[in-house]
This record gives sequence, structure tokens and C-alpha cells, in this order.
Amino acid sequence: MKSAKAKKTYRILLILGLFILGYFIFVMLQSNASASDRYERTVDLSKYPGVDLVTEITETKKYNMAIHYPIFKSDKINREIEGYASSVKDDFLAMVEEDKEFLKDRAAVLSLAMEIHPVVENVYSIVFSEGSYVAGANAQQKTKAYIVDANKSQFIQKTEILKDTKQNREQLYELLNKKFKESKEYSPLLFEDELKIWVADPNNKFNGMYFTDKEAVFKFDKYEVTAGAAGMPSISIPLDEMQKYLTDEWKEKLQIANDKNDKTDDINNNTQGNNKPKGEKPVKDDVDSSKGDKRVALTFDDGPHPKNTLKILDLLDKYDAKATFFMLGNRVDFYPEIVKEIADQGHELGNHTWNHKDLTTLSKVEGIKEVERTNQAIKSAAGRESTAFRPPYGAVNKQVQSAISSPAVFWTIDTLDWKSRNPDAILNIVQENIRDGSIILMHDIHATTVEAVEPILKYLKNEGYKFVSVSEL
Ligand code: NI
Repeated sequence: MKSAKAKKTYRILLILGLFILGYFIFVMLQSNASASDRYERTVDLSKYPGVDLVTEITETKKYNMAIHYPIFKSDKINREIEGYASSVKDDFLAMVEEDKEFLKDRAAVLSLAMEIHPVVENVYSIVFSEGSYVAGANAQQKTKAYIVDANKSQFIQKTEILKDTKQNREQLYELLNKKFKESKEYSPLLFEDELKIWVADPNNKFNGMYFTDKEAVFKFDKYEVTAGAAGMPSISIPLDEMQKYLTDEWKEKLQIANDKNDKTDDINNNTQGNNKPKGEKPVKDDVDSSKGDKRVALTFDDGPHPKNTLKILDLLDKYDAKATFFMLGNRVDFYPEIVKEIADQGHELGNHTWNHKDLTTLSKVEGIKEVERTNQAIKSAAGRESTAFRPPYGAVNKQVQSAISSPAVFWTIDTLDWKSRNPDAILNIVQENIRDGSIILMHDIHATTVEAVEPILKYLKNEGYKFVSVSEL
């Protein structure tokens, strides 16, 4: 009797055990399938002897990564470069983890692209461009350049090539400043004082700087010395203009390479008649500028919102401030009377596409449709057209831009209001970054942003700022 009872108990326990085991196997298979929907790593030969190229593609529900880096014959070089590539990945994945609750509608993206430029025999510049978008409005863009001697398995520091003296740095600043000013594209976006600080900083080892066999190239991170609209600006200086900044050893090495190629591509388009409507004013160090003629553009994205936008309109009215509202077509459609109110109070109407798609992921036709449809909705609601356009995520390419008549408007101060949801934090970011000509990015869909608006208006008014639309700026 007893043993039959025990047998029965064992059988029940066994079945139960199998169930539990089966459940765990099921859960493991599930999580494996969603953790990595696609992972590919390929290694290809490059056109340079002794350099192979690695491409890693990872696609999951939450993020997509495309990573490119070179492999040399030298372990020492490979360790450093692979270490850099994995730190870029790790930083990105940490951000994805931090912001994962915001990643329901749109996967985060990381791309680490790479270029190789031969400098002199066996010496290459390896130039990385990192672009990442996790959540919110801002896409990050960073750069890093290595110069390697593949034969000697060595990295060459930029300060071994550049004569690193205080006087030299001062002159280098003058030269870079001049080159920025000569560039039609970057000149209106340069922060001269930040460039000056950047060059003079003894900790600056010229991370993004590299050489080709014809020129020295200074590549900067987004926001490092320019407004965000410049992306990652890159200033090329022909080697013959660089002579006096080079150490004797490298002057000789590079001169030989330069003679061999004997080619000068001087990019001297000194254009003052640059009257693109987008033109921001060159932002100067404004410590001594007289109070009252400084200007700032407040911009509100992703609305209109039936309550919050109206509250903001009241506050703007109280401070006699004009702002710009970059609105989503589908919301305009829903709240046309709010759009009419914005227009009637004299604010600028901005187009932020129909439903916040990344335009760079659409075809040209689809992209135009997103923008055009929104223009129509704004016009029928407000009785006048939108006069400014801001691409979602700041993502725009030449193809999209060429199809849209208004220039893309970006921002110089990202308040991160969508993330902090904290009026004090929003005000703080403004206080720390404000300067004449700033464009401040906020979102009128959040109640916490509304709470930050009055303190910001009060603070900036006291600092002598006038509130204008982005087009006026
Ligand atoms: Ni937006």
C-alpha cells in the first residue's frame, strides 16, 4: 500500500518536474529569439594591403547597430581599435537601457562608419564617424581619428605631427577661424569663442584631426564648435598651408608625399552674399554686448495640445514674446482652433511633418507627402501657410531637403524636457547654454514644460533678451 502511494507521488513529482523544465526551455527560447533578431559579422579585404574590414550588423526590436572597423596585422593596433568600437557599442547599449521605455515606437540606431586615408607609405588615417539616435529630439554625432603606422605597429599621436606649442596653437586658431569663415556652409553656424577654447585647451590632443596625402583635416563633433545644424563640420587645410605647424620630421615626410601628388584643391569660396533665409547670425562672445539687443527663439514641437499650448500662448502674451510652433499635421487636423489661435497671436507656424516619421527612412515622394499634407492642414486651419520646417529627430538628408522649399530649422539648445519632465532642470539647461541667437527646443505637449516657460521667459527677459520667431532670427 505504502509503496504504491509513494510510486504515485513520485509520478506526480516527475510530471510536475517535466512541466517546469519545459516551461524554462520555452521561456529561454522566447527570450533568445527577441534578444537578437539578426546578427551578422563579415570580414572583407580592403584595397589597402594588410588591412581588412569588419562589418557587424545587429538588428533587434529595440535597436539597430551597424559597426565598421579595420583589422590590421598588428595585435596592438587591433586591441585599441576594437576596444574603441566596443566602447561605442557599450555606451549606446547603456543609453538604450536607460531610455528603453521611450523605444516603443521607434528603434534606437547606432552607426559607426569608417574611412581609411593613406598618408605616407604604411601610414593610414582611420576616421570614425559615430551617429546615434536613442530617444528624444537629438541625434548624436561624434568623430574619432587614428593615425597608424601599420609597419611599425604603432599609433602616431597628432601632437607628434603638429608642433605643439602655445604660440602654434594661437596661430592654428586664426587659421581654422579663417577657414570656417570662408565656408559658406559653416560660417553662420560657428561659435568663434568655443573654437578658441577648443584649440587652446592643453587636454585637446586633436582627437578628430587627421591627415590625408594632400591635406590636414580637422573634423569636429556635432555641437563641439558649431550649432547643431552644421552636423560634424570638417575643415580641410592643404598641406602647404600647414607647413609651419608641423614638426620637422613630419614636415619632411609629408612634403615628400605632397610633391608626389602635386595637387592643390583650394576651397576658397569667400562668399559674403550668402542670403539663404536660414542664415543664423554669427554668434559672438556677448559678454560686453549692450543689454536689450540680444535675441532668442523659443520653439515648441510636437503640438498643438488643447490645454498646454493655450497656457503657453497666455504666458507668451504676458511677456510680449513671439515664438515658433513646429506642429504635427495629424494634431493640426485634430485641433485646428488652437492653430488659428497661435496664428492670430502672431507666432510663427512651423511644419514638423504629419506624424513624426524619420524623413531619411522614407522615399522622396513619401517624404514630400508628409510635409505637404501638413502644410495644407496648417493653411486650412490658420488661414496662412507655415513658414518654417523642422524635421523630426533633426534627421534630414539632401534628397529630402531639396524637395522642401523651406530650409530645415534645427536648434542650439536642447532642453531635454521630454526626458527630465522637470521645470527646474529645463530652466537650468537654458541658463547654462543661452547666448545671443540661441534657438531653444521644447515640447508643448508636456505639462512640465508649460511650468518651465514662465521662469524661462522671466530669466531671459532679465538678461536682456528679445523673443523672436526663428525666421526673424
Ligand atoms: Ni519632434
